[in-house]
Amino acid sequence: MRILGIETSCDETAVALVEDGRLVGERLATQIDVHALFGGVVPEIASREHLRVLPRLFDELMTDTGLTPADLDGVAVARGPGLLGSLLVGLSFSKGLCLATGAPLVGVNHLMAHLLAPGLDGALRFPALGLLVSGGHTHIYLLRSATDFELLGRTLDDAAGEAFDKVAKLLNIAYPGGRFIDMLASEAEPDTALFPRPYVDNDNLDFSFSGLKTAVANHVAAHPEVVLDKMAGAEGLAGISGVRRQELARICASFNWSVAQTLKIKVERALERTQGVCSLIVAGGVAANSAVRRTMAQVADSAGVALTLPSLSLCTDNAAMIAYAGWLLFRAGYRHGLDLEAVPRGRA
Ligand code: KG4
Ligand code: ZN
Repeated sequence: MRILGIETSCDETAVALVEDGRLVGERLATQIDVHALFGGVVPEIASREHLRVLPRLFDELMTDTGLTPADLDGVAVARGPGLLGSLLVGLSFSKGLCLATGAPLVGVNHLMAHLLAPGLDGALRFPALGLLVSGGHTHIYLLRSATDFELLGRTLDDAAGEAFDKVAKLLNIAYPGGRFIDMLASEAEPDTALFPRPYVDNDNLDFSFSGLKTAVANHVAAHPEVVLDKMAGAEGLAGISGVRRQELARICASFNWSVAQTLKIKVERALERTQGVCSLIVAGGVAANSAVRRTMAQVADSAGVALTLPSLSLCTDNAAMIAYAGWLLFRAGYRHGLDLEAVPRGRA
């Protein structure tokens, strides 16, 4: 079964083809440079970019794989959560393809697709505990199977990735700053007393990262000399050296540590409360973070469950995960009509 996946939920436009559960081709265009100028994603610009780029990426994918639209056995599209205008571009394109070819359509929950993505690299084991840490979400799920999941905990305010990006902004590091914070963090040891592990002194599985962001803001306000003179991305950061780089690295390593430890406390709590879980799946953009990957390996090890982490390219938004989740849904008998709607918030 050949399934086309389409992803346009935020600032990545992507198409991919999965055949019998294996990735056979993909094309991705990121809008990061367009939005970096504004310090975050501008929804109206995002949808226009998707509209401009998506048809070309699809044509390129067909050329790469030597297929025509008539060869598709199904179309899977991210229906949410995400930006409404952006989602509608992917949905409209998918519906047009289905109408033209007669291929069936299935809408995919973007968050589930993140969690199922590592299935492209190796078999997933259920029941699993799923930690989804991305720019928009920090959720803990119980996944009984690939199509049966229950939300156990979520962030009450900022998502983990959002906290990374906001802290980066405080330091004048370019959007999205998570990967730069992670890079700088590798150059220092964390000061574990510098920042709190927010919202852990309770009995629940929810998160709140806004207090941690405020703690970093207070530290930066007291040490304004660490803030970069002008907005810096990879190139600008390469030119920072000496004491300022060391101090930046110390802040980043300490922040990395606080986020990873906070996730650890809640995931351990969730593992204690769920029966028979045999694997821990960690997914989403922040699953690319080195401290998160290391810490989750320890958590899985001491709980005696298998750790499933997507490869780095499958952590951030992509269409391979949409095609793969769509393939699982088609196989399980799911289909949607052409009246499928976008679900910008909540469960899709
Ligand atoms: O899953 P994703 O691509 O998009 C959403 O669905 O939100 O996640 C993007 C988020 C951004 O906040 C970005 O800063 C963060 O993932 N991110 C990282 C790293 N790589 C990406 N955060 C921390 N460390 C990283 N290495
Ligand atoms: Zn995502």
